[in-house]
Amino acid sequence: MKPVLEELERRREGARKGGGEARVAKQHEKHKLTARERLLVLLDEGSFEEWDMFVEHRCTDFGMDENKVPGDGVITGFGHICGRPVFVYSQDFTVLGGSLSETHAAKICKIMDQALKVGVPVIGLNDSGGARIQEGVASLGGYAEVFQRNVLASGVVPQISLVMGPCAGGAVYSPAITDFIFMVEGSSYMFVTGPDVVKTVTHEELTAEELGGASQHTKTSGVAHGSFASDLDMLMETRRLLSFLPLSNREEAPILPCNDAADRASPVLDTIIPDNTNMPYDMRAVISEMVDEQDFFEIHKDFASNIICCFARMEGRSVGIVANQPLVLAGCLDINASRKAARFVRFCDAFNIPIVTLVDVPGFMPGLAQEAGGIINHGAKLLFAYAEATVPKITVITRKAYGGAYDVMASKHLRGDVNYAWPSAEIAVMGPEGAARIIFREAAKDATALKTATDDYREKFANPFVAASRGYLDDIIMPRNSRRRIIRALNMLQDKDLTNPPRKHDNLPL
Ligand code: HXC
Repeated sequence: MKPVLEELERRREGARKGGGEARVAKQHEKHKLTARERLLVLLDEGSFEEWDMFVEHRCTDFGMDENKVPGDGVITGFGHICGRPVFVYSQDFTVLGGSLSETHAAKICKIMDQALKVGVPVIGLNDSGGARIQEGVASLGGYAEVFQRNVLASGVVPQISLVMGPCAGGAVYSPAITDFIFMVEGSSYMFVTGPDVVKTVTHEELTAEELGGASQHTKTSGVAHGSFASDLDMLMETRRLLSFLPLSNREEAPILPCNDAADRASPVLDTIIPDNTNMPYDMRAVISEMVDEQDFFEIHKDFASNIICCFARMEGRSVGIVANQPLVLAGCLDINASRKAARFVRFCDAFNIPIVTLVDVPGFMPGLAQEAGGIINHGAKLLFAYAEATVPKITVITRKAYGGAYDVMASKHLRGDVNYAWPSAEIAVMGPEGAARIIFREAAKDATALKTATDDYREKFANPFVAASRGYLDDIIMPRNSRRRIIRALNMLQDKDLTNPPRKHDNLPL
């Protein structure tokens, strides 16, 4: 081999070693894959094209001129997932803790700029101690450059953040701007600042897990959209998520071959609603019956479980499904459910994914905690998101659609394209008994009179026919035919053309 070729190979080998054998072993001890191993799992075999392998930092302070690793702690480039292109960066914790220097940031910015130009998703594999402390403001500037690109790419190309180690400071704010954040149970953490600093400032003694582990962020804060048992699981599921998404807002999501008949009936749905309207049932079972091959990908599965948000396919085409879950809090809309669903609806709208809404909601959650927490503001986010969405919107009311929640959940009045109800639907300002107690306050003091008033109200409104008679519903459908009716509506709406008035941007109630 010619010496120059040998030199290239030698240098490449040097870069591939990352922070060296000892640190790689430490990474493996924590049940973490290395940055390169992760890309091998995430991307189609042999598809990765690496850029900037020889980039080194330029810092000379604190002995850093003696501490250089080619690639500077992040592997960047492009590859394929199921034959479709993606840009990726994968931070290497074995090199200075994956910390972000000026040059490390420049590498990430380079692939983000290119991804925007060609309209391709960006997947960031984050495993970083944040801003490189030795570089000071240069690394802070680097982070801001990344944030700026995250913002400009928002709604243009899908951005997915995989948090695969302890991520602090800037290493959490970039993911926070992206569309989806996934974490690994037991080995990934997200915090603005770690347990040591927290102890000094607030005197709270917390483990990293308590402060910012996967459980904290997928169940309580809602910062992360899902967690997985291992690096491997997360990477494989990310490949699956990508299959539901378009490459950019200029495209439609891919249509996959479908082995599930579009006109398949689901007799089980005819009996899924309990006779007692206060009894719950599992809305997941309804979704499962309606979508192709019972396959759906849940977002925020463990957060605000009173609403379900998931991607699925119907006749091979991606849809975003938003569904109240009567099993949890009777399917009420509360602060977290509103935040969760609003963000999901906005994602679908930005990326041309039709929204199917399944409604069984007794209303917004009442009470001091919700009011003090700003349910008015948060509930308005969901209302706003549905009202501004221009993608095809199909709604099926399975049971309750009460109060403001009726309006919010993709009603006809918010430009719902096709609005159906099952015969079991109840559409009113509130439940019959609550209504009777207010409008017949005097009579309500007597139990028999209250029952009569309640029955009257139920008779009048606890059905879908009043709404249908006004044209607020396009039809009342047999539950068993829901899949067929939704698919037909989706086909009809394929070339839907609707735009909102021109403006710089809206003013979503944040
Ligand atoms: C330079 C860093 C580093 C950093 C870690 N390292 N973080 N080097 N800059 N930010 C190095 C360590 O020196 C060590 O080097 C190696 O990475 C592994 O770190 P350990 O501490 O041994 O690992 P571990 O015990 O797993 O702890 C990981 C950690 C901890 C929790 C991330 O290292 C940590 O707390 N780091 C600092 C986090 C932080 O406060 N970052 C700045 C945030 S401010 P050797 O050579 O021993 O392998 C910020 C500003 C942006 O990001 C603001 C935007 C809004």
